[in-house]
Amino acid sequence: MSFLSNTLSRVKPSPTIAMTAKTAELKAAGRDVIGLSAGEPDFDTPQNIKDAAVAAIAAGKTKYTAPDGIPELKQAVCAKMKRDHGLEYTPGQVSVGTGGKQTLYNALMATLNDGDEVIIPAPYWVSYPDMVLLAGGTPVVVETSLDTKFKLTADQLEAAITPKTKWLIFNSPSNPTGAGYSREELKALTDVLMRHPHVWVMTDDMYEHLAYDGFEFCTPAEIEPGLYDRTLTCNGVSKAYAMTGWRIGYAAGPVELIAAMRKIQSQSTSNPCSISQWAAVEALNGTQDFLAPNNVVFKRRRDLVIEMLSQIDGLTCPTPEGAFYVYPSIDGLIGKTSPKGTVIDTDEAFANALLNEADVAVVFGAAFGLSPNFRVSYATSDEALKTACARIQDFCASLT
Ligand SMILES: Cc1ncc(COP(=O)(O)O)c(C=O)c1O
Repeated sequence: MSFLSNTLSRVKPSPTIAMTAKTAELKAAGRDVIGLSAGEPDFDTPQNIKDAAVAAIAAGKTKYTAPDGIPELKQAVCAKMKRDHGLEYTPGQVSVGTGGKQTLYNALMATLNDGDEVIIPAPYWVSYPDMVLLAGGTPVVVETSLDTKFKLTADQLEAAITPKTKWLIFNSPSNPTGAGYSREELKALTDVLMRHPHVWVMTDDMYEHLAYDGFEFCTPAEIEPGLYDRTLTCNGVSKAYAMTGWRIGYAAGPVELIAAMRKIQSQSTSNPCSISQWAAVEALNGTQDFLAPNNVVFKRRRDLVIEMLSQIDGLTCPTPEGAFYVYPSIDGLIGKTSPKGTVIDTDEAFANALLNEADVAVVFGAAFGLSPNFRVSYATSDEALKTACARIQDFCASLT
């Protein structure tokens, strides 16, 4: 009998983290690998945010805090929810965690019992199904398609709901596709949820600020006020503020749920880093002026990648509304063989051959629950993207 828990045997390690680690290993061994697998901006954290952290250290704000956040940060989250979405929250309705990941995890741990179902549209962020499994729930994966630009439709949502459904996990703009739901598309989903009062929505708004071509971000509770009492709005500073290493995420929702999440946090990690919390106060309350110029850069990179990948025969690559990912389909390449004899029978085989034979690291679609695709993260320099896309073009052209 294994010493390890039964639950753990159902869970796999994060494939994106594994790919990023493999890229680092190959680079350390001297290989000229270009990594397009990491989900983090290459920009530095803005100076005003770093200064706030330094000031917090100087002021001795280096002690334990309340488990789910300092009052100043909770207040900043309330102000953000009001400013950006017109939603009223009080500090007792806010939970701050060690990254967006922890708040999502706490919420699932706090609510799931054996057999509870969680609807997860695919392709999904890699951690959702495994976090549901860790919490004892059952992921109900609903595959979207290229035709709807990877967005869940109202009919699909309606069909997936059962008496056991507890949550819909919703993510827009999406990791891994970059797809962003318009107001109308989201309203169609919230209308379905209004007909099923036992289903709650956990919305992951992590890429809210990374939106292009005039795409207007919206979140379920602002679209449908009737869902306010059963919505947990999750967000964080990692992506838009280039703060992945600071580890601050937050969630706003009903008091009872927030209290349950606090209980879990108080018995696991206690509070998120005090210094990072002060930095996050500055991120949310301070100037937002760097967001627009950063988005100009991201949009330029998105267009560059889409243009170069669209020239490849056998590859289909829709233009997404946001985040910093594209998710091309390799349907037209399945069955081909690489110069070194690798049969491209799955997207995993494609990604491995691309890494081993063309020195480009991407993440295969099966990791996100929808194949045959791969995810490119364009949060890296234009030069690296040009070289990497040229290598992908050459590699695909070499397949027979
Ligand atoms: C959709 C989505 N949600 C949540 C997270 C977690 O963010 P954090 O680094 O703040 O834990 C990520 C990170 O990749 C993400 O892509």
